[in-house]
Amino acid sequence: MERLRFFLNDRPIEETGIAPTTTLLRYLRDRVHLTGTKEGCAEGDCGACSVAVLEQDGQGAPTLRAVNACLLLLPMVQGKRVYTVEALREGGEYHVVQETLARTLGSQCGYCTPGIAMSMLEACHRRDLDEPWKLDAQMCGNLCRCTGYRPIREAVREVAGLRPGDRFARALAETQPEPMALAYESGAQRFFTPDSLEALWDVLEKHPTARFVVGGTDLSLEVTKRYAEPPLLVSLEAVPELRVLEPRGGGHRLGATVRLTDVEDYARAVSPPLERMLRYFGSRQIKNRATVGGNLCTASPIGDMAPVLLALGAEVVLRSRAGERRLPLEDFFVGYRRTALAAGEVLAYVDVPAQPEGARSLAYKVSKRREADISSVSASFRVVVDGEGKVAEARLAYGGMAATPARARRTEAALVGQPWTEASVEQALPRLREDFQPLSDHRGSAWYRAQLAENLLRGFFHETLSTPMPRLAERHSATVQVR
Ligand code: FES
Ligand code: FES
Repeated sequence: MERLRFFLNDRPIEETGIAPTTTLLRYLRDRVHLTGTKEGCAEGDCGACSVAVLEQDGQGAPTLRAVNACLLLLPMVQGKRVYTVEALREGGEYHVVQETLARTLGSQCGYCTPGIAMSMLEACHRRDLDEPWKLDAQMCGNLCRCTGYRPIREAVREVAGLRPGDRFARALAETQPEPMALAYESGAQRFFTPDSLEALWDVLEKHPTARFVVGGTDLSLEVTKRYAEPPLLVSLEAVPELRVLEPRGGGHRLGATVRLTDVEDYARAVSPPLERMLRYFGSRQIKNRATVGGNLCTASPIGDMAPVLLALGAEVVLRSRAGERRLPLEDFFVGYRRTALAAGEVLAYVDVPAQPEGARSLAYKVSKRREADISSVSASFRVVVDGEGKVAEARLAYGGMAATPARARRTEAALVGQPWTEASVEQALPRLREDFQPLSDHRGSAWYRAQLAENLLRGFFHETLSTPMPRLAERHSATVQVR
């Protein structure tokens, strides 16, 4: 079995005898005593544990990404360059993000400050922070209890895109980061990272019930919150075939292990509903690790990608050593947190087809907090109106309304063939109560969810009236796309 190997603040590290479910945060603080990285929530919500990792972006180019160390299991950084807040100061000089944060009075008690500085470091080396809302999106995963966000935001605005000639710029210029294969074992736990489909099939042949992981943003919570010790994890991160992100047949192929940050960048030019949902999907740090496949394979009733992909008519491609099969996304969810994946099979791609002429599509997420929160209800709609102004097709998909993300089939049927008018929508709305009988929980009562579901469809109708519809890139409730 191999050793864990990575670079920490440019120092080569080799480790063995550490449980593979050790988080990077625990390693930093307890094992190597780099205590600048703080623990707040241990579940990816506060950003106090943010560190930077050199990664490949969606085009394979090196990029610096802020990630939550509390959600990264140590084998996930195999072969990577990891930087903590201690790496910012070089040759006795403070880094520009530190100087700026101090000058704008962006720190008081300082507990959040190391994490904020590391998210600012990513901002400092990004080239695309050219609109104010992008600064909010960059920093929404870092909470501060005492300073207030205005001075922090001011500091971020000053450093965004500066790209100084620091150690990080040198690492970006000199490194071609690649996910690295790993077969690691410690005690009764094992962690495999195959680097090809063939190697993956070999692992699955021996261990058909292995649990898959990529970003770890969901699975790691079992470790940090429930002290789970999964005996065998198989990371799909290094399998190149699963990382495709490309146009295909007038639509788009999204590889299962593509990071949501990269999907969001890609979607900006081609799919506003997808982009809009991803803007509010989660924090920058979460999207820097979370993947399309991970979000779908958890089969959570409140997974935010599913309603958009259902509305857009996506299909999933499942692969195994025996070959591949293709399913409409709605058939992939077979029950509460259960999917159609068989043993030895992985979700390889999500294919989003070309959108029909005249399609109006739009995505909504309703949560108690605008940023970095779990949906109470999410919804995405696609309605195709024909030349006579009648509904030729309706795909109305909801999350948070049933045991799985699901389409409102009866409501869809009530709309098809009707003129696309307010009266038709009002006449169809009661069918939503037949489609869904939502539960009450701490995110919303059954009554509230049912009412939301209706109001979102009403909102969709009104927002799709104007032609051409505004793209509303920075508007939080919706993005409208007309083709
Ligand atoms: Fe809060 Fe990691 S400790 S996000
Ligand atoms: Fe105290 Fe942010 S400065 S929590």
